[in-house]
Amino acid sequence: MAEYLRLGVNIDHVATIRNARGGIHPDPVRAAKLAATAGADGITAHLREDRRHISDEDIERLSREIELPLNFEMAPTDEMIEIALRHLPHAACLVPEKREERTTEGGLDVAVQHNVVAPVVRCLADAGIRVSLFVEPDKVQLAVARELGAQVVELHTGSYCDATGDDQIRQLDRIVEAAQYTRELGLECHAGHGLTFETVGPVAAIPEVRELNIGHFLVGEAIFGGLDSAIKRMRGLMDQARAEANGQQTA
Ligand code: PXP
Repeated sequence: MAEYLRLGVNIDHVATIRNARGGIHPDPVRAAKLAATAGADGITAHLREDRRHISDEDIERLSREIELPLNFEMAPTDEMIEIALRHLPHAACLVPEKREERTTEGGLDVAVQHNVVAPVVRCLADAGIRVSLFVEPDKVQLAVARELGAQVVELHTGSYCDATGDDQIRQLDRIVEAAQYTRELGLECHAGHGLTFETVGPVAAIPEVRELNIGHFLVGEAIFGGLDSAIKRMRGLMDQARAEANGQQTA
């Protein structure tokens, strides 16, 4: 039986909308509190170097005001390490960051960046923070993540979500194989990026995946039907895919 699949709701883009006008509306901390009542198991927020959405004050307020575990997405830089050590979130997910990108376009290349990432993983883990590395579904990346001492890897699902037809099936197979390999390596497996009502099912059905982090689509859907309803529907689709996969395993 696959274990319970957690949903981390990423609230970055509530802050994107707020920042479009400046001021305080809509408030990402209010969204985080609402996500908790709608069925989220954790809150994810990415403090980017250019502060394009989440602000330092948001991180402070999230750390103080929310009861769900906070997953702090961060680039492996001295500035972000200092902020993580100040707030001691439940988890930190190391992501690559380029100023010119619209979103996190690929996974962190932990093979190439090994020497940069190694001390960051150690420092955060020593502070009691659960360290996750956001990587492409690729065996080399996973093996290096293990070597680096990360407890968790988050598989980048962007290529799968962007693909269509046979290519989408190929991209899903890469995620399935990578997830199976995390079990061999003893890594906890998370996944996320670009997931929607249409694409979430096959990823939720992968038994090794323990957590999905989903943001942009939920905030977009909230415009049409409210955040509560978008999160509940996503939660329902995840649970349904998981239950079907478990049924197939025991049948
Ligand atoms: N996981 C990680 C590591 C991310 O960087 C992001 C995007 O910030 C997400 C999950 C959520 O992606 P999306 O907003 O496309 O659902």
